[in-house]
Amino acid sequence: MFNEKEKKEVRKEKMNGKNLAHWEVKEKDFPKAGTIEKELTFLLRYALLAPSGHNTQPWNFSIRGNKISVYVDLARNLPVVDHDNREMYISAGCALANLLIAAEHFHFGYKLDFFPEGKEDELVAVAEFFAEELEQSEFPENLFASITQRHTNRNEYETRTINEESLQKLKECADEEGIRLDLIKEPQVKSEVAELIARGDVIQMNNKAFRRELASWIRHNWTKSGDGMPCYAFGIPGAISFLGPFFIKSFNMSKSQSEKDRRFADQTPVLGILSSAKDDKLSCVKTGILFEKIALTATKIGIQYAFLNQPIEVPELRQELKSLLKLEELPQLLFRLGYAKLRRHTPRRPIQEVLVQ
Ligand SMILES: Cc1cc2nc3c(=O)[nH]c(=O)nc-3n(C[C@H](O)[C@H](O)[C@H](O)COP(=O)(O)O)c2cc1C
Repeated sequence: MFNEKEKKEVRKEKMNGKNLAHWEVKEKDFPKAGTIEKELTFLLRYALLAPSGHNTQPWNFSIRGNKISVYVDLARNLPVVDHDNREMYISAGCALANLLIAAEHFHFGYKLDFFPEGKEDELVAVAEFFAEELEQSEFPENLFASITQRHTNRNEYETRTINEESLQKLKECADEEGIRLDLIKEPQVKSEVAELIARGDVIQMNNKAFRRELASWIRHNWTKSGDGMPCYAFGIPGAISFLGPFFIKSFNMSKSQSEKDRRFADQTPVLGILSSAKDDKLSCVKTGILFEKIALTATKIGIQYAFLNQPIEVPELRQELKSLLKLEELPQLLFRLGYAKLRRHTPRRPIQEVLVQ
């Protein structure tokens, strides 16, 4: 897929620590005169900018002619926080959404086949691309430019409310069959959810295996790694970041973490929750697609988001959250929405690491 010159460039990029260069992808570099494989490879540059649990980027892609296969990479699982690989399939859904948004932007039509080799398979979807555009887009308008802007923002949010017009735009994203979006504004409900989040923090942080796993994906702020989360994404500055993984692994910071997250959830203007009728892999992928629509729409209208998934990741709290919100469906993702100063992007792996034969 890559010629020698291209491979050398990527190697050089890795050596120089240009793991953030992936965010600089330019529309004008689309290889108009290239083969279909070159064009599809270019689209993948947008797919790999998607969010993923602990920035594991648990996906692989293969290109055959006019088809892209999207796989989860089971070697990149998070056995403690994501014991059933639910968030891994959600992450793959986010990457698939970016891929399709980019495809539509460059005037491709496509046909999607989910789990063609079985409902539990690593092969999440095969997308077949055509020169004829779709009659109707599968995505809200003009999300393409937000792909390179989106980031998870763990800053403290302003207390100002989100107006109805903006909330309506977020609600309109929720058109995936079987997946439901609730936006919670009522202070009493937010505070009850905040309590569950704080309890989730305590359960997770008390678990050494959870802290070890988290620490193994935390990086210092000058990391050359293409995956994981630099400390700056958590507001940890400068040289202290070298101690980040050690502190997380060695000390139980459940008190400060739970107090902070409770405050974040209490004070955020809106909590968003995605739930699905079924808890199977396809529902996870569709949750990921819908989440990415919401994240990109929010980015487009200047709204920030950050996850507070703790009460979904801890099985006993997931049921409590479901009952508290009187949901028929199963909670899949919980996040706060609001206004805040922007944060920096996190690293990504080079494309040839995720492109398999
Ligand atoms: C399915 C999923 C679950 C996530 N869970 C959490 C979480 O519980 N807490 C958190 O702070 N971030 C969470 N994240 C955000 C990731 O850490 C983030 O996407 C990743 O570090 C890449 O950074 P970026 O989103 O800024 O590109 C999650 C992301 C996804 C897709």
